[in-house]
Amino acid sequence: MKSPPSSSSSSRRSTLSAYFLVISFILFVAFLYSEDFACVLRGPFLFSSEIQDYSTRKEKNDFVAGEEEKEAVVPFSVGRGKKGCDLFEGEWVYDEEGRPQYEEEECPYIQPQLTCQVHGRPDSNYQHWRWQPRRCYLPSFNATLMLENLRGKRMMYVGDSLNRGQFVSMVCLLHRIIPENSKSMETFDSLTVFKAKDYNATIEFYWAPFLVESNSDNAVVHRITDRIVRVRSINKHARHWKGVDVLVFNTYLWWMTGQKMKILQGPFGGDMKNVIEMETEEAYRFALRRMVKWVDKNMNPSKTRVFFTSMSPSHETSMGWGGARDGNCYNETTPITDSNYWGSSSKGIMRVIGEVFDRSNAPITLINITQLSEYRKDAHTSIYKKQWSPLTPQQLANPKSYADCVHWCLPGLQDTWNELLYAKLFFP
Ligand SMILES: *[C@@H]1O[C@H](CO)[C@@H](O)[C@H](O)[C@H]1NC(C)=O
Ligand SMILES: *[C@@H]1O[C@H](CO)[C@@H](O)[C@H](O)[C@H]1NC(C)=O
Ligand SMILES: *[C@@H]1O[C@H](CO)[C@@H](O)[C@H](O)[C@H]1NC(C)=O
Ligand SMILES: *[C@@H]1O[C@H](CO)[C@@H](O)[C@H](O)[C@H]1NC(C)=O
Repeated sequence: MKSPPSSSSSSRRSTLSAYFLVISFILFVAFLYSEDFACVLRGPFLFSSEIQDYSTRKEKNDFVAGEEEKEAVVPFSVGRGKKGCDLFEGEWVYDEEGRPQYEEEECPYIQPQLTCQVHGRPDSNYQHWRWQPRRCYLPSFNATLMLENLRGKRMMYVGDSLNRGQFVSMVCLLHRIIPENSKSMETFDSLTVFKAKDYNATIEFYWAPFLVESNSDNAVVHRITDRIVRVRSINKHARHWKGVDVLVFNTYLWWMTGQKMKILQGPFGGDMKNVIEMETEEAYRFALRRMVKWVDKNMNPSKTRVFFTSMSPSHETSMGWGGARDGNCYNETTPITDSNYWGSSSKGIMRVIGEVFDRSNAPITLINITQLSEYRKDAHTSIYKKQWSPLTPQQLANPKSYADCVHWCLPGLQDTWNELLYAKLFFP
């Protein structure tokens, strides 16, 4: 087929409009990459320098790999992990004696959304599973060693309610060896601080469900369905993390609202017309890179450690593991045994996490809990928790309709996440 003839004036017009398109694209990119309106013009250059960094980083890594001896001085380490052992690959082993490491009623810090026994959970096997990596053993959690090494230091978990659960689990694992009058737990807005006074150590939690700034940042009032984030803005939160010695980040659940995220290009309270929609994975990538950039600039790798906990899976549809057609985690009392099982967790987000950390200079240790938690359909709080609002007769007649298949009972699965963190912190 012949293409229709075109006059030279219309071709000039299309060159012009292509030119216009390129300019608007550059401006668009500039918007995305600049934290504030003011640095719009720096945007595109920032972009190309990031690519530049990546291409030279490969060589830098090879160079470091040649100097294995130097790698030995990882801050906080007291030993080495077994070479070639992937802690996150393995199986759940039932351990009646060895687990749990504390009792639900013995730890007063567990929030009523996670105390399953006191809310009537009839079974307790979910507390007795121990994670067994395929090629090595997890070091046993030693609370004294942990507190000794945190002497005069701050450890902070930053993220959403799942990270809050992991924070509480850590406090429960430690609090037993601290006398009653030398510990305290206090909350100031987004920050909750557990103090071990004799050690002058704190374990803290900071609420920032997207890590970057969002309209869901209020630690109490944040049940917002129309979520909006500023993917390049982190300092509003990060100023509360500055100077912390051990940081543990997570962010995932709040991004899972659909295919797209709403991104605000400018401050909240300003012109809300500057909201664009972006693919969730891309928005997530921007936020993660912003966090990594902050770590690179603000954390001293010879004195501090930074961790990132991967996605916490949920168990909303039992068909996925060969269960009933309309079931979920409700009434589940045993782990999934099919080692290939992978539920609804986003593989795309996992890929983004891998890519962003591979390309970063900042040493961030991934606590890859997703696969091992996928097996734990039995470990959720389900209906055995304090409810936000009274249940209707219809709900009560159909318990699975209000089961929480996102959060986890304590003691339980999240203690294992901390055992893995402990292993990576002291035996890297
Ligand atoms: C725990 O760590 C402390 C301090 O390093 C040490 O003295 C103690 O022997 C350890 N306990 C066990 C059971 O290994
Ligand atoms: C207590 O720990 C903080 C850091 O969390 C440190 O700045 C301070 O100097 C320590 N105080 C003492 C008395 O060791
Ligand atoms: C819960 O599970 C048990 C045993 O697997 C089964 O007998 C019971 O009918 C289930 N209950 C509900 C409400 O699904
Ligand atoms: C986390 O572990 C899973 C299962 O072993 C693996 O498929 C995934 O690639 C890992 N993610 C990263 C970012 O390493």
